[in-house]
Amino acid sequence: MIFTVAIDGPAAAGKGTIARAVAKRFGFGHLDTGLLYRAVGAKGGDPVAAARGLGETDLARDDLRTLAAGQAASRVAVIPEVREALVAFQRSFARREGGAVLDGRDIGTVICPEAEVKLYVTASPEVRAHRRWLEVGGDEGEVLAEVKERDRRDAERAVAPLKPAVDAVVLDTSAMSVEAAVAAALAEVEACLGAG
Ligand code: C5P
Repeated sequence: MIFTVAIDGPAAAGKGTIARAVAKRFGFGHLDTGLLYRAVGAKGGDPVAAARGLGETDLARDDLRTLAAGQAASRVAVIPEVREALVAFQRSFARREGGAVLDGRDIGTVICPEAEVKLYVTASPEVRAHRRWLEVGGDEGEVLAEVKERDRRDAERAVAPLKPAVDAVVLDTSAMSVEAAVAAALAEVEACLGAG
């Protein structure tokens, strides 16, 4: 079965949690595409060469989840050649046999516009910063500034900017528990699988 669930949205909106839950429930493969950009940013040197030569060991680094790695990722993500170098891998993952869930910024708009389910998971900047702060600690005001800066860079870039696909189901998790957000996403996928 070829079946793709595209989950897009800004940083710390809950995409990863929802993507993992959907993958587990339906036995689909999961690709966190942010990790690709984080690995390119963390590698240093020429980002285009880093993207073209990205390998397993780059993705296995244990420093890819930091705020600094997120900032570095969003800086290399504006470079069209970096994005191009990562397209083929993401597309083939999306259409792999057995189903796939990809979370990122441009999955439903650019990588897999034919995805059977498209979700756009969002929440207010303050709620997202609070969630990220609970994970990383430090100064909450700084985390909020970081979230807003990354939102702006991701939404304003010329290539594959962050925006919902026209046919995406928007899930605002600002006032939702994790369980409620996951349940809403599972219901969308179930409805589509049932209809197919
Ligand atoms: O999702 P995550 O916070 O790990 O993404 C890090 C950065 O990578 C994002 O801020 C964005 O600039 C970039 N990214 C992207 N397209 C994707 C996934 C991530 O441009 N599909």
